[in-house]
Amino acid sequence: MRRKVTIVGAGNVGATTAHWLAQKGLADIVLVDIVEGVPQGKALDLMQALPVEKSDVSVIGANDYSDTSDSDIAVITAGFPRKPGMSRDDLVRMNAEIVGEATREIVRHSPACILIVVTNPLDAMCEVARRVSDFPRERVLGMAGVLDSARFSTFVAKELGVSVNNVHAFVLGGHGDQMVPLPRYSTVAGIPITELLDKATIDRLVDRTAKGGGEIVNLLKSGSAYYAPARSISEMVDSILNDKHQILPCAAYLQGEYGIRDLFVGVPCQLGAIGLEKIIEIKLTPEEQAALQKSAEAVEALVKSLPQEVSQKA
Ligand code: NAI
Ligand code: 2OP
Repeated sequence: MRRKVTIVGAGNVGATTAHWLAQKGLADIVLVDIVEGVPQGKALDLMQALPVEKSDVSVIGANDYSDTSDSDIAVITAGFPRKPGMSRDDLVRMNAEIVGEATREIVRHSPACILIVVTNPLDAMCEVARRVSDFPRERVLGMAGVLDSARFSTFVAKELGVSVNNVHAFVLGGHGDQMVPLPRYSTVAGIPITELLDKATIDRLVDRTAKGGGEIVNLLKSGSAYYAPARSISEMVDSILNDKHQILPCAAYLQGEYGIRDLFVGVPCQLGAIGLEKIIEIKLTPEEQAALQKSAEAVEALVKSLPQEVSQKA
């Protein structure tokens, strides 16, 4: 039987994720949104692309969760995106309520699924999904690190004029302006970029990566990035559904790793059929550890500001 992925939120990120998943033939897809007609219309349009693509997956759009039963993975993209001048953190109250409600419905229909949270502010929304679902940490993950690393890789490849295939970038921390790109562990054909670029250039690329989401918000004027986020989500889905044991940077609920406890923070995670298989710990310099700690403190402040009522379990 083909696997099933529910995507909550049929907006830019949700619909584009459905597009990538359908194109790769990874799973049957159910798109859920509160706006009547939109998930149905996008699902139908996507279905009609699939004979051309020669993919037999099914894509269904719905305004409730009845068709989502027994999903293997549920991706939560429902919520409001950032507007110009608005920080990811401004979104916390508005989106906590939406993510809490979506999680409750998903758990009711798919109690064994793996949750991939995308809605911002990412790390705090992961905590909402964890509290509401009461799932073990293996089954609650957040997508941000794959995107942030892809952005860093793009900038490094362009700077050096090399293929993106040769670049492996590494970003730790929360999905906020205090994320921690790690140049020492970012390589081009296995060579650390610290051997290939001077400090000023690396600092510029790191800064552009940390502000990468905002750069696109300012260009688009309304809405935020979705092509790269959606492709990043599909990479996590692929690794889980195909039990790939791939190591990807994801937001995971840390239990002492990197000296951090009871918080979602972006770290290298091995993903397979059970979801989170393992968190990979790497040695950090005191400066890198301090930057990670600062990023974790920003996440902690957001989690503290979560409204209590969203934590009600499913
Ligand atoms: P969008 O506005 O295009 O789509 C959001 C969709 O959610 C809309 O279609 C809306 O009707 C729907 N929605 C709202 N309340 C809902 C509910 N209760 N149930 C079901 N659907 C509901 O926004 P976009 O661009 O798709 O972004 C979605 C979220 O993802 C935002 O919070 C954005 O900040 C975040 N994001 C996170 C990234 C990351 O790296 N973690 C990257 C890109 C976006
Ligand atoms: C991004 O980084 C908006 O978080 C989203 O593009």
